[in-house]
Amino acid sequence: MKILITGANGMLGHEVQKTLKNEHELICADVAKLDITNKDKVIEYVTNLKPDYIVNCAAYTAVDAAEDNYDAAKKVNADGPTNLAIAAKMADSILIQISTDYVFDGEKDVAESYKEDEKMGPVTVYGSTKADGEKGVEENCDKYYIFRTAWLYGVSGKNFIKTMLRLGKERDEVNVVNDQHGSPTYAVDLASIIKQAIDKKIPYGIYHTTNQGFTTWYEFTKMIFNLANIDCKVNPVTSEEFASKAKRPKNSQLSKDKILAQGIVIPTYEDGLKRYLEEELNQE
Ligand SMILES: NC(=O)c1ccc[n+]([C@@H]2O[C@H](COP(=O)([O-])OP(=O)(O)OC[C@H]3O[C@@H](n4cnc5c(N)ncnc54)[C@H](OP(=O)(O)O)[C@@H]3O)[C@@H](O)[C@H]2O)c1
Repeated sequence: MKILITGANGMLGHEVQKTLKNEHELICADVAKLDITNKDKVIEYVTNLKPDYIVNCAAYTAVDAAEDNYDAAKKVNADGPTNLAIAAKMADSILIQISTDYVFDGEKDVAESYKEDEKMGPVTVYGSTKADGEKGVEENCDKYYIFRTAWLYGVSGKNFIKTMLRLGKERDEVNVVNDQHGSPTYAVDLASIIKQAIDKKIPYGIYHTTNQGFTTWYEFTKMIFNLANIDCKVNPVTSEEFASKAKRPKNSQLSKDKILAQGIVIPTYEDGLKRYLEEELNQE
């Protein structure tokens, strides 16, 4: 298959390249090669290339900064996927758009997880622009996948685990929020889900694609320190004690029933963390 990866230099973009490169012809575009906010350029590029798939890994991901930069976030997160959807339809390409748990308000009881067909209700600028990106895809092409993920981490770029590994070595104790629930997701495993979806040609639509299992940042940090043999006390705190510009969802739990029913194999977050730490700590 000929596959165009946009935002190819981002964290997920790197992993998607590594996962797909042996079996597919990849065209990897960073922002300099293809700015997804430039509608004319996107249409020209995609209709000339005629890829079988477009995997859109490009996004404005600075959740807090987005609160003061609506226009910039909207351009990349809403207009960008819309442009790609218009171009995908013209070129008869299949569009894979990556979305987020932030399209929900995160207020649901933590005993439950969000299903794909639930009404979106974003409460942040980042979340609302990503939700508009989903609508732009749905309204402008028929052959699409929207893969919502959450708590994504990988070896490329910054992430929560890298921060905790550093703090755990520098300090005797750290405070970590214990009232946000979700599934830490290894970018390698999301890239594998994308590959499996392409290989299996699963039905088009929206799917929830995080690692399996749920935890809190506090419990996850204890697991990180335990596996990395770091002796640092972890204190549970509330979101209110840990102020951030953009409100974080209390419940980011995304039900995987729909994608699992397609026979897609998804490891647990514990398994993802172990493999990530092997990769990360071997680099040091
Ligand atoms: N990270 C998470 O925890 C998380 C959670 C849920 C969902 N997601 C979603 O997962 C996807 C991948 O996220 P990520 O963490 O890999 O993001 P990332 O590391 O921030 O990468 C995003 C990439 O998009 C590029 N980009 C920005 N504006 C662009 C434009 N106008 N045209 C083309 N490329 C542009 C960036 O390039 P520059 O760096 O050069 O600007 C960067 O390489 C995104 O859709 C994100 O919303 C992420």
